[in-house]
Amino acid sequence: MGLTRIRLRRPSPMRKDGAVTKRPSAVIILAAGEGKRMKSALPKVLHPIAGRSLVGHVIEAAAHLEPEHVMVVVGHGRDLVVEHLAEVAPWVLTVVQEEQLGTGHAVRIALEDLLGRGATIDGPVVVLTGDTPLLTGETLSGMVAEHDSACTVLTARVPDPTGYGRIIRVDDAVSAIIEERDATDAQRSIDEINSGMYAFDAALLGASLGKLGSDNSQGEEYLTDVIGLLTADGHRVQAHIAPDADDIRGVNDRAQLADAAAIMRDRINLRWMRDGVTMADPASVWIDVDVELEPDVTLLPQTILRGPTAIASGARVGPGTTLVSCEVGADSEVIHTWAELAVIGDNAQVGPFTYLRPGAQLGDGAKAGAYVEIKNSTVGDRAKVPHLSYVGDAEIGEGTNIGAATVFVNYDGRDKHRTVVGRDVRVGSDSMLVAPVEIGDGAYTAAGSVITDNVPPGAMAVGRARQRNIEGWVERRRPDSSSAAAARAAAPSNEASDRVTNVDSTDSFREE
Ligand code: UD1
Ligand code: CA
Repeated sequence: MGLTRIRLRRPSPMRKDGAVTKRPSAVIILAAGEGKRMKSALPKVLHPIAGRSLVGHVIEAAAHLEPEHVMVVVGHGRDLVVEHLAEVAPWVLTVVQEEQLGTGHAVRIALEDLLGRGATIDGPVVVLTGDTPLLTGETLSGMVAEHDSACTVLTARVPDPTGYGRIIRVDDAVSAIIEERDATDAQRSIDEINSGMYAFDAALLGASLGKLGSDNSQGEEYLTDVIGLLTADGHRVQAHIAPDADDIRGVNDRAQLADAAAIMRDRINLRWMRDGVTMADPASVWIDVDVELEPDVTLLPQTILRGPTAIASGARVGPGTTLVSCEVGADSEVIHTWAELAVIGDNAQVGPFTYLRPGAQLGDGAKAGAYVEIKNSTVGDRAKVPHLSYVGDAEIGEGTNIGAATVFVNYDGRDKHRTVVGRDVRVGSDSMLVAPVEIGDGAYTAAGSVITDNVPPGAMAVGRARQRNIEGWVERRRPDSSSAAAARAAAPSNEASDRVTNVDSTDSFREE
């Protein structure tokens, strides 16, 4: 589940604002069903969108009501669901519904379980379903604020009501909810549907649940029958129409999962754009719910921000970048990059085609360029790893430059070792720094060196064989080749001989 493990805030015991006028005693979230149409080994309510499980989104909305108890009814895949809830919302209670005998049965056992735990239930009881991730706290608050009767049903007017329970109204009040399977043709044409979410008067709910039968096409105890029972007893039932029908959209299969994810993406992106974030192509930018962005961040197309990623003002991210639980400092640029659990300082330059793995930390003004992979390493302020390098388990001091194609050889086949490179060091191109090894401040290494021993500050380390030139070799060994012809043309007077000369640019480093 990875990122969907991020903790959800516990409802605070004190009201922070006047938005919630009636604090529910309990929110009961129904999530025992199988979710057959998902065709998944993962229980439906654990599928993630925007970095949070479906049921996690519902819990977050429920927490907005600051209820005394949140209880989730689990059944199918309960071990995984309970484990997930313990991780993301340990303050949530769970009750197991062994057999899915209907939504009414599910609410009944949840209430019984709550009372069995000694809970006092005197405020409203809100019932939700675990597969409606687009439900917002504001919509729920609106329903609870309006709730002033035996039951308030959250409804929506939709163009295609197929599959939903229909709301039967008498004037402004609701007289019954009829399931599609049990409805007449006239009832089926009603376009106001039951979201499956309600606020109930606790005592009246308890009394009605005791009277539920299962005499219907499914042989189940329908929670919706409570509404008919209440109105038959002369109690008033209201409807609260969701301001946005998407709020109550359920997820039953992968196509609806994708639809819900796209709607959530649009909502999240709209919010950030209103908060001062520029997006060149919002339809291709995917931002998890736990991301934090400052004003004047620019997100370019195909950017995916996952987990608790935070990006500071002035930073430009993308195109083609995925950041998983990363921090990006102010005014930095991150282009065509995949980064996970990495920290990028201010004014840093990353990419294109850079891979930052967990523990990569780039200082202010640092650079990680094309085809560079960095893990568990610190790159100091203004230090640069510009091209084609692997940096693992290392500390690179400020102002240091790592030449192209350098490899920090951190693994001996059994253990990982650390490399420490001081400040203002110049590591020559194509160096192998074989850990554990230290390069002192201000030192140089010659290009192509294999550095196995510590280098003192200010030294030049040369760790490679000297070059030999065997003159005339091509003419003797490949006489008919194009290379031989080219060689002849370049130096027509060259005589084939076995003369060998040593030519090594490191000679110029000598202080003889
Ligand atoms: C229910 C409503 C319907 C409404 C629709 C909205 C009833 C009888 N009907 O129908 O009016 O339009 O939701 O989506 O309530 N569940 C349990 N235990 C059970 C049965 C269900 O936990 O024994 C859970 C399911 O996992 C699901 C939710 O309750 O999350 C709704 O159950 P489902 O069987 O999908 O009801 P619908 O037929 O969709
Ligand atoms: Ca359903």
